[in-house]
Amino acid sequence: MDGPDGGVVAAGTCEHWAPAPGSLDVIEGAALRFRLTPYISAPDALASLDTLLSRWRDHLAAVPEAVGNDTAAVISWPSRDVTGVRALVAHGLVPLGVIAARPASRRPATIADCPPGVRIRRADPADLDVATQMSLEVIRFDAHFAGVVERPGAAQALRAELAGLLDGHEPWAWLAERDGDPVGLLVAERPQVAGWIAPRTGRSPVAYLLVLYVAPAERGTGVGTALTEHLHRAAAAAGVSVVLLEYAQVNPLAVPFWGQQGYRPLWATWEARPARTLR
Ligand SMILES: CC(C)(COP(=O)(O)OP(=O)(O)OC[C@H]1O[C@@H](n2cnc3c(N)ncnc32)[C@H](O)[C@@H]1OP(=O)(O)O)[C@@H](O)C(=O)NCCC(=O)NCCS
Repeated sequence: MDGPDGGVVAAGTCEHWAPAPGSLDVIEGAALRFRLTPYISAPDALASLDTLLSRWRDHLAAVPEAVGNDTAAVISWPSRDVTGVRALVAHGLVPLGVIAARPASRRPATIADCPPGVRIRRADPADLDVATQMSLEVIRFDAHFAGVVERPGAAQALRAELAGLLDGHEPWAWLAERDGDPVGLLVAERPQVAGWIAPRTGRSPVAYLLVLYVAPAERGTGVGTALTEHLHRAAAAAGVSVVLLEYAQVNPLAVPFWGQQGYRPLWATWEARPARTLR
């Protein structure tokens, strides 16, 4: 898009993307995703984004695969750039997911007390079954908020992903147990594995918190906080600059919890599902 003096003030690329079969990406949304990356330098970002979204809609109307039901038009927008929000809403996009960040400088990592009878230990490959089951429970809970979809093969994809993370020296994975029975799980990616999400922030090194789950009967007593602080302490010792994670915008447990743990929204994922509902 050209500005008044003829220079380009806004542009966008639309990537037509489908997750690789068997990868964990399959659960993260529609089977076929059209992802807009906007570049806006105009002073009036709202008007420029509005025009860009109209052109994207027209582009997708001419793409035969975009008429399918299992499709989504997806755009990531900086959470604190409030200037574009009205345009996103006007075009039928809904904010589904949040990428949140906790800089290492937020506050020192101390280990919170566990509730009586609960003990936290590092997870290892022998915990793969319970780790897969608890991670599936997170997917099922998240599926209520429409961003995540539990597809056939989700358990196998999770198992493969977790097997890789649990295998190795001192994995960033911890289990909470009551009387030896598992009641909570946290799994995170070290910076060497979290490179896929590193471009979302200027800070480095980046770690990624993949799973946090606490059994319903144990929630609200500090188990989630204690698990999270084990990660924060390990991340601080490894020189991690920022921990990123994702949660559903309307997950009533995750939103206050992550805020309290020092995480702040960085990117919002806006979607129109199916893609043809982009207007
Ligand atoms: C999100 C989740 C992991 C939080 O775990 P949790 O063990 O309930 O977390 P905590 O108990 O540490 O903290 C939750 C609340 O309990 C409070 N709490 C902590 N310790 C407490 C204690 N000793 N006594 C009473 N309340 C306590 C916390 O202050 C917090 O309350 P607040 O949100 O009103 O401030 C858990 O709710 C869960 O598994 N949800 C389903 C899956 C999910 O959403 N995962 C995250 C996806 S991104």
